[in-house]
Amino acid sequence: MEPIEIKKDIFWVGVVEFDHRDFHGYSRCPDGTTCNAYLIRDDKNVLVDTVSPGNAGPLLCRLAKTMPPEKVDYIVCNHMELDHQGVLEEIVERIKPEKIFVSQMGLKSMAGYYAGKNWPVQAVKSGDVLELGKKRIIFQETRMLHWPDSMVSYIPEEKLLISNDIFGQNIASSQRYVDTFADEAEFVHRVKEYYYNIVLPYSPIVLQALPIVESLDIDMIAPDHGLIHRGRPAVKFIIDLYRKMAEQKPQKQALIFYDTMWHSTERMAYAICNGLEESDVPCRIMSVKANHHSAIMTQLADCGAVIAGSPTHNNGIMPLVAAMICYMSGLKPLNRVGAAFGSCGWSGESPRFLQNKLAEMKMDLPADPLKCMWAPDKEVYKKCNELGKKVAETLKRKCDNR
Ligand code: FEO
Repeated sequence: MEPIEIKKDIFWVGVVEFDHRDFHGYSRCPDGTTCNAYLIRDDKNVLVDTVSPGNAGPLLCRLAKTMPPEKVDYIVCNHMELDHQGVLEEIVERIKPEKIFVSQMGLKSMAGYYAGKNWPVQAVKSGDVLELGKKRIIFQETRMLHWPDSMVSYIPEEKLLISNDIFGQNIASSQRYVDTFADEAEFVHRVKEYYYNIVLPYSPIVLQALPIVESLDIDMIAPDHGLIHRGRPAVKFIIDLYRKMAEQKPQKQALIFYDTMWHSTERMAYAICNGLEESDVPCRIMSVKANHHSAIMTQLADCGAVIAGSPTHNNGIMPLVAAMICYMSGLKPLNRVGAAFGSCGWSGESPRFLQNKLAEMKMDLPADPLKCMWAPDKEVYKKCNELGKKVAETLKRKCDNR
């Protein structure tokens, strides 16, 4: 892959990882990902971010096609997570930069990952300006979006924001720009997937950061993952989508996730779905065995209600449901309607257990947890249908009042 000049004398020099699937050890990127890095050529040459471990070679090759790597003067590390700085040691040894810039909090991560290196690291803070010659970089810290050290780099002369993880997506493609990527639905899905698995807990901070981004004169946002947002309509589109995801206003769709032993809990899930559909609320059922927890989380982006189901197992819930509820809880979704259900042979703790977990996430819980002994009969199916209808009516009221 060739370096791409995205603005005058600013080049994409990242790597596309078509076959990467395990994103950060906890989320899936089903169709690969991209780790973007950018080279700014000026009187002072700057490499903004590096790439993931094992990819120093492709990065250096791309760099070398634009200029001799040793002519790079500065490295900017917008964020120290290793998908961006995993090859820093090899890159620093090769180019021997005059300075490496990190945020104030980045000093800690740098010291943690690269202790004892004695590199020329310098901390910058919001508003600090790095003069390059014809261009400048203005730094803006974005603490907890999504690490304490995160910051973004604004190049006002080119109306360009290099945004690190923010506004990124796990897309592997030969295309570099959103406007040349053929599948808009896929693009939006991958934005939601990234947001709901990485950024969601920090939504209140996103809502504070977006006006700062909007106050800048920008016609391009270049994230460190996936496609570049080129042109003012694309910039507005991604900012609006981020605002929508961060606000988490209720949406008239429900998600049921469940596990099952002998299909009783599964049958309950489908009966609850019927109740929702009869009340005009579309529903998506996702088995935790058939779907990775990050795919279920992505689906939540479009759902205002979450209904969790598990058989009772060892006086608790099934292990994959436990993993799912733990994962979801950590991502702190807001403003949802919830409900819980499950089958059992004897003790039957699972529906109450799940309901308590949903309550901890401050969900509206319009119905008592629904328990079924052994296998659902006509009466249980009727209760499942009623549960679906109760959730649907509560969600519709919430949507009307939003
Ligand atoms: Fe793309 Fe937080 O690393």
